[in-house]
Parts: sequence; structure tokens; C-alpha cells
Amino acid sequence: GRLVVLVSGSGTNLQALLDASADPSYGARVVAVGADRDGIEGLARASRAGVPTFVRNLRDYPNREDWDAAIAAEIAAHKPDLVISAGFMKILGAPTLDSFPVVNTHPALLPSFPGAHGVRDALAYGVQVTGCTVMLADAGVDTGPIIAQEAVRVLPGDDESELHERIKTVERRLLVDTVGRMVREGWTVSGRVVRIGNNIG
Ligand code: GRF
Repeated sequence: GRLVVLVSGSGTNLQALLDASADPSYGARVVAVGADRDGIEGLARASRAGVPTFVRNLRDYPNREDWDAAIAAEIAAHKPDLVISAGFMKILGAPTLDSFPVVNTHPALLPSFPGAHGVRDALAYGVQVTGCTVMLADAGVDTGPIIAQEAVRVLPGDDESELHERIKTVERRLLVDTVGRMVREGWTVSGRVVRIGNNIG
């Protein structure tokens, strides 16, 4: 399966997908990496792996609709089977969401702690267990149907970055495993339920 991965930062989730796809039995490969900004490690990771990259920066467009259309057109040019939003910090609009399935990953157990500060919010709330969620993106913020989740314990004295790193260790594995199963075994979604495998189709 052809994956287009969207990043906005360090791209360690992207790196995990690049590493996994080096094994032909994984069944998917990253055909392009897109970002909403220049100068991020995620783009460097793609270049080091010889994967084409593109940047569509909102500030280069007169309005959001034009940006939505531009990023959807760029993604379409790479003919993805799945778009993976891994630490991509923009809400994707209808031109993208209506054209491709988008898998998103979030460092909290949704529906708890959605949005850009899920780790910080979980820590501030004082939860003892948080985790990560792999879901299908919809038009909302972290509101799409859940595909996979895994719990991560909060340790006494954790600060945001320590907790986020512990979550990301699990998140990278969950994302790689889930995406691999989706492309190898097929998947369907009906309502809020995503089903993978069992000879679907
Ligand atoms: C991940 O935890 C992702 O869920 C969150 O930001 C982090 C991005 O990490 N939105 P990376 O860029 O993949 O290293």
C-alpha cells in the first residue's frame, strides 16, 4: 500500500513507518512526506530515506480554502492508499478528507484530552493512566472513529516531556502495527466502528 505521511515536527512516528516499510513483508511504503512548514526534522528524515517531500505553508495562500485545495492536490498526485497524519498540526479540510482515508495518531486515550496539548492536559488532570489513540480523521479535532488504543501509566514526578516520550514509544509501535494490518488485511468503517481483516471485501 502507498502511504503519504504528513508531519509538522520531529517525525519520529514517520521514522517508525520508514523503518517498518524497509521490510517488504510490511506491505506498505511511504511514497511522499508532506509538511505545513519548512525546516523540521520530519522533512530531513524523509530526504535521508530518499522519499519525496512537499511543503504547503498556510501563509503562502490567501485563505484556508486555497490551502486545503493545494494540499489535497499534492497528496492526490502521489496516489495514496492511506494518508497518515503523524504529528501534523493542521486540521485537514474536506478536499483531503473527502478524497482519502486519513489515519491520525494522538498521545492520549480519546475522547479524553483531545487537541494540541493532550499530554499536558492529562498530566494536569492528574490521571494515573493515559495512552495513545490511532483513529480515522474526520472534520473535527480528534473526534474520528477509533481504530486502536493502548494505555500508558503516568509515573510520579513525570513532567510533560517525560510522559510524552513514554507515550511516543508505545504510539510509534501502535501506529506501525495498525497501519500495517490495515494495508495487509483490508479494513472497513461503519459508523464509529473500524474493522480490520477477517477477509474483508
Ligand atoms: C506525536 O505524539 C503525535 O501524536 C502528536 O505529536 C507527536 C508528534 O511526534 N500530535 P513526531 O513528530 O511523530 O515525533
